[in-house]
Amino acid sequence: MNQLGFVAWGDEGWRDDMVTRENGAIAVFGGTGQQGGAVVDALLGRGARVRALVRDPGADRARALGARGVELATVRIDDPGSVVAALEGVGAFYFMTPEANSLEEVEEEVRVGVGLVDAAVAARVPHVVFNSVFGADRETGVPHHDSKHRIEEWLKGTGLRATMVRPAAFMENFATVMAPSVEEGVVVLRLPLPEDVALKLISIRDIGLVAAAVLVGAVDVPGGAVEVVGDELTGAQMAAAFGARVGLPSRYEALPLSVLGNELDRVMFRQFAEGGGRAADFAAVRAIEPSVWGLEEWIRSSGWGEE
Ligand SMILES: NC(=O)c1ccc[n+]([C@@H]2O[C@H](COP(=O)([O-])OP(=O)(O)OC[C@H]3O[C@@H](n4cnc5c(N)ncnc54)[C@H](OP(=O)(O)O)[C@@H]3O)[C@@H](O)[C@H]2O)c1
Repeated sequence: MNQLGFVAWGDEGWRDDMVTRENGAIAVFGGTGQQGGAVVDALLGRGARVRALVRDPGADRARALGARGVELATVRIDDPGSVVAALEGVGAFYFMTPEANSLEEVEEEVRVGVGLVDAAVAARVPHVVFNSVFGADRETGVPHHDSKHRIEEWLKGTGLRATMVRPAAFMENFATVMAPSVEEGVVVLRLPLPEDVALKLISIRDIGLVAAAVLVGAVDVPGGAVEVVGDELTGAQMAAAFGARVGLPSRYEALPLSVLGNELDRVMFRQFAEGGGRAADFAAVRAIEPSVWGLEEWIRSSGWGEE
């Protein structure tokens, strides 16, 4: 029995960690995206009832959620009533905020986040989980992180029960913008990060597992926030992890910040270069999700090097 006093029936029988508020679905904003999608996966894995707040229920990704038993509620951020209606009766509410690549988009991100929080207040949601970012308890000068700080502050000011899930950089970036290459039999990783700096990393799967554990009330989160980090490695260590996977030597090359085309990214990597804030608390994350992946496990699961 969890602190809410409810239990749910799972495949293996009655289990404390498979609980959700009786009659209350768990609402997810962003369920058609990366992090929200991982949250939906993890909630379904726990046997929870999930209601995805989507803008287009006819979109392929929304329909795919529906096919897996997820309720779809159509919301328009510009129509607060639609969001309040979608949150009526839910047991908990998870939201992330869309990516911002310019200062205008940062303001839009804050507008979306604040709008979702206000709707949660109006619908009297018992527990709100905000998918923020590592270090967002304070201002860092990184615009698309300070936006999340502002949303956190807004949420805290409402008096709603709130938990911040603050992920580090996604390991999935190694499949796209941070992809290593194999050059003349050597795995080469190039990032705009000095050689002696360790980057904090997390797999999106684990963001979902952590958020779901919090949403169903399976865990207590001391201080109302958890910084979700699965690994912390220098460039050479990251390159070596990829090299080891395919049995090749590896090399890391630190690039200048000027290779980044976006000013927001340059500010962020400058902050990473300064150490990226405080140290990672791996014990706090593993207390919530013991199976959290390090980079080696993510590489194995991603199939990298097998093509
Ligand atoms: N990349 C990293 O390493 C990293 C690390 C930490 C934090 N973050 C943060 O993570 C966030 C991005 O997360 P993600 O990658 O999971 O996002 P994503 O895959 O791009 O998904 C965005 C989700 O938001 C939904 N959405 C956006 N605007 C909406 C609107 N107006 N109304 C309804 N739904 C809307 C999208 O719905 P549709 O399907 O309808 O588009 C989609 O479900 C950013 O805030 C970023 O700063 C990123």
